[in-house]
Formats: sequence, C-alpha cells, structure tokens
Amino acid sequence: MNHMPRLRIGKFEARVPIIQGGMGVQISLSGLASAVAKEGGIGVIASVGIGQRDNEVITDYVSAHKQAIIDELRKAREKTDGIIGVNIMVALTDFDQHIEGAVEGGADIVFMGAGLPRKLPESIGDINKLHTEFVPIVSSVRAISIIFKYWARKYNYTPPAVVVEGPLAGGHLGFKREQIDQPDYQLENLIPQVIEAIEPFKQSSGRDIAIIAAGGIFSGADIYKFLQSGVQGVQMATRFVATHECDAHIKFKEAHVNCTKDDLIIINSPVCIPGRAIRSPFLDEVEAGNEVPYECPYKCLITCDVVNAPYCIALALLQAKRGNIDEGYAFAGANAWRTKEIVSVKELIDSLQREYSEAVDAAGQ
Ligand SMILES: Cc1cc2nc3c(=O)[nH]c(=O)nc-3n(C[C@H](O)[C@H](O)[C@H](O)COP(=O)(O)O)c2cc1C
Repeated sequence: MNHMPRLRIGKFEARVPIIQGGMGVQISLSGLASAVAKEGGIGVIASVGIGQRDNEVITDYVSAHKQAIIDELRKAREKTDGIIGVNIMVALTDFDQHIEGAVEGGADIVFMGAGLPRKLPESIGDINKLHTEFVPIVSSVRAISIIFKYWARKYNYTPPAVVVEGPLAGGHLGFKREQIDQPDYQLENLIPQVIEAIEPFKQSSGRDIAIIAAGGIFSGADIYKFLQSGVQGVQMATRFVATHECDAHIKFKEAHVNCTKDDLIIINSPVCIPGRAIRSPFLDEVEAGNEVPYECPYKCLITCDVVNAPYCIALALLQAKRGNIDEGYAFAGANAWRTKEIVSVKELIDSLQREYSEAVDAAGQ
C-alpha cells in the first residue's frame, strides 16, 4: 500500500491529507468532524446557523451561536483527540463572536471563507500566541495577495495554509456565474498560479504554507492528481455528506445519493452570489419568480438584502438539514451525482486511501 502523505498545518499534523470542508447549516457538526479527525483527517464544524436548535425559541442569536460553537467543540473533543477546525464565514454579522467561540472552545484551526478578511476581535488577543491557527479559503490569486499582506501588516501573522476552492465546489462559490465553466478559473489552472503567489510569503515569513485544493475532488485518484500538481492536501465536502456520521437528516443524505447530473444547478443565492445546489420543488418555485414569505429571525449575513430577498436562505438550508427537503434545498458539489451509497467515514477514507495507492501504482511510481 502506498500511503497518502501526512499534512502539516502550523503546529498540527494530520495523518491523512484530507480536510473535511465545513458545511452549513448544521451539516457538519461535532458528529462528522470528530469521525473525520478520528480517521486521521481534519474534521471541521461549520459555524453558520449553529445556534438554532430544534424547537428552541431564541432571543439572543449572537450568544446562542457562540455558545453552540463552544458546545460542539467540547462534544467533538469528548470523541477524539484528532484535529478539529471551525469554518466561519467572513460575511457573518456576528463574525467576532463566532471567532471568540472557536478560540474559547479550543479549535485547532479556524477556516475563514466567503469573503476577504476583516479585523479579528481584539478580545482574542495576539493571534500569534493562540493555540488556534487561522486559514483563509480563497478562489483567486488576487485574494491571496490581499489577505497575506493584510495579516502580515496588521497581525504580524502568516497563515500556515490556504484553501483554494475552485468552481466545482458545493455551496456558495467565489466566482461570477459566467466564470464557473471557463477554463481559466478551473482548479487545475488556479493551482500553479497559487503556488507562485504563495512563494514570496513563505520566503518573507520563513514559515511553511500548505496549499489545499478544494472543489470537485471525489476519488483517491483525484487526491493523487492534485498532490502531484504541487499541493499538500485536499478539502472535500460533498463526499462526507453521504456518511453515517454526517450530522444532516437521512433525507438530506438521500438527496445527494439520488441526484442526477441534471439536478445539480447553479442558483443565485439571496446573498447575491452564485451557489451550487440540488434542484428541489422549493427552488423551482423560486425560479418561477414566486417568493417564499418569511420573517427574518435575525440578519445573519451582511450581504443579505433582507427587504428584497425572495426567501430566507438560513431557514431554507435548515429545513433541508432537518429532512424537509421540499421546503428548502441541499447544497452539493458538481460531482454529487457520482455518490452511490451512504458509508461510514472510516469506509470512505479507507477507499480513498486504496484508490490513491492504485493511482500511484498506475503511474509506475
Ligand atoms: C452542503 C454543503 C454546505 C457547505 N457549507 C459551507 C459553509 O458553511 N462554509 C464554507 O466555507 N463552505 C461551505 N461549503 C463548501 C465546502 O466546505 C467545500 O469547500 C466544497 O464543497 C468542496 O467541494 P466538494 O464539495 O466538491 O468536495 C459547503 C458545501 C456543501 C456541499
């Protein structure tokens, strides 16, 4: 067996170079994250909408989210001493409190996606002295330059890794609609530019910076292909939906298993960026121009136009997570149609390892 290489991110070293991408709303919580960490990968809890428990009336969303992040980290820690991260969207209105929750809860790594970096809350102190490492998720070389320069100047901090997410990913995408199918923006073509862009920051900081490829990576052969292209790890999300340990309702997982290529569509999310999801009666209604009335319980995303948005994305995603797929929809990556069955995280990682080993043999290495 040709083993996959380990992945080092700052002070943390994962036995397998696989990060489970954070999935909101409440698709990746402590159940999935701890199972992935136990198998040697990096498990990630998604923080968006995490505080909205079933049948609970919330009066203070900000405190509820922060507390839920701390609670999920504790639950994950009870199950494993592997590496646990938290995915926090930069576009959250209560971003500061999510960061505080992750740091106070002892997250190993915070992955920051969906936007350029903002100021971190002063309450967490000097980030160079924290247990927690901070890793940005980007979709362009330009974003890398802005983020790494900003963090060096403001915090004297160089992130130990960067996740590069291409247009085949699930959920919100960091591309304009017309860029999604263009060759220039495909992950394979972004990687060489990213490797080049990261080099000066490695030199100036004297720190290793792992490059992580994300978006559409499905098999062990894909992992081999991307590692050969010069990255140190991969982030995969869609594959982890169809696992027993994934924190979503079984109907959400079945929506992934049963979807066809044609069911995977690009939507205009109410937060004004494109996203990839599985077609559903709810989305058909929205596409037909019908609004889905709602009362905004709490403006969670800065970019949401609450007055004109045709529906509440947080409620729609939460409905899907709870199994009411027809009243919402499931996000999914472009390769979700290849998902054939629900397996355990261990079975999934073992099969990825096997396929990786076969790819090494096939390449004659
Ligand atoms: C159901 C679902 C929910 C997601 N939610 C988030 C999220 O809350 N924050 C984020 O940064 N990325 C989110 N993503 C993107 C993933 O973390 C990941 O980077 C991407 O989907 C990788 O591509 P893959 O799904 O083809 O493996 C989500 C993806 C899916 C499929």
